[in-house]
Amino acid sequence: MILDTISILNFKNIRDQRLTLSERINCFVGDNGAGKTNILDAVHYLSLAKSMHTIPDKQCVCHGEESFLVDGVFRHDDNRQEQVVCSYTNRGGKTLKRNGKEYDKLSDHVGHFPIVVVSPADSALISDSAEERRRYFNRLISQLDHAYMAALIRYNIALQERNKLLKINPSEEMLLIYDGMLSAAADIIYRRRSEIIEQIRPLVAHYYATLSEEREEVDIEYRSELLTTPLAELLIASRRRDFFNEHTTSGVHRDDMVLTIGGHQLRKFGSQGQQKSFLIALKLAEYTLLTEHTKNKPILLLDDLFDKLDMRRVAQLLRLVDGEKFGQILITDCNKHRLQRTLDEAGAEYRLFHISNGCSTQ
Ligand SMILES: Nc1ncnc2c1ncn2[C@@H]1O[C@H](COP(=O)(O)OP(=O)(O)OP(=O)(O)O)[C@@H](O)[C@H]1O
Ligand SMILES: [Mg+2]
Repeated sequence: MILDTISILNFKNIRDQRLTLSERINCFVGDNGAGKTNILDAVHYLSLAKSMHTIPDKQCVCHGEESFLVDGVFRHDDNRQEQVVCSYTNRGGKTLKRNGKEYDKLSDHVGHFPIVVVSPADSALISDSAEERRRYFNRLISQLDHAYMAALIRYNIALQERNKLLKINPSEEMLLIYDGMLSAAADIIYRRRSEIIEQIRPLVAHYYATLSEEREEVDIEYRSELLTTPLAELLIASRRRDFFNEHTTSGVHRDDMVLTIGGHQLRKFGSQGQQKSFLIALKLAEYTLLTEHTKNKPILLLDDLFDKLDMRRVAQLLRLVDGEKFGQILITDCNKHRLQRTLDEAGAEYRLFHISNGCSTQ
């Protein structure tokens, strides 16, 4: 999947820009606050109809304006072109059109124009709670398997209902109904999480080894109570505790995906650069799974390329993504010379855009 051109109107500090992108590496350089990440965010809107930061659409409208519009022309491997337009007005809300036709549901768009983002904001995935990691894997597996997404929705509904019941001393039969619903959905969730983590582990290890030039070894360990006991049994065993706590204390909503380096928890023992390298390895592994699944190379967005990485690791990363397994790439960095030198050393070809006050010059 290639984004050939993008037009951006009144999106954050970008008033009116039309960019023609290279089908390989595109670099956006400029000072802090210039608008580099905003360009990537506009691309994110075309792919997923929302910002890559968790901010409301309204906040993306340029100060003093009423609306924004992002218009992109994509090209498939067979040269077929598709136009995607995402617009938002303060009064009318958001609309998304594919080849001039408006979607009924924005979620129908998801997955057709895949992207993978590496951004400094990802660090929560490592440093924060298990919930962040579950959310990451839920999003990834949902893209690969709609049945997983459906099971997750059923599980969350049943969980909410069971938690409500626990507060009001329900009948045995009622509780058993929800136990049954939870167990059935949890079996699917547990199985798919196990499978995907098994698939992603060697990929992450491979990419991390390349980035670090084999300095460290990393792994992902899936921790779930369901590993040893089916949820139906766990729910019966924890029932007294659940009544006491007034919520469900066993289940896949308590799973964790523990990231390790040299056998120790990355969150506690990894340096900042090691943590960042792990994140990149994970995203590249995600990229590979998505490519295999959709037979379509996602667009790779690398925001703030040098964030926490040393020159050698950035050079290794550029060598990796310059290979034939990767397609179109958009990179931002605030230091043009450093970026150019590293790209030249990696032998990569690229198109350079200078960004200043939301304007681009080539
Ligand atoms: N709704 C908005 N309207 C106008 N300008 C906005 C709006 N939202 C953000 N901005 C401006 O966008 C700029 C930030 O842009 P961006 O995050 O793309 O910078 P950057 O080039 O990536 O910088 P850095 O190198 O620090 O990451 C800031 O100057 C900010 O004031
Ligand atoms: Mg930025």
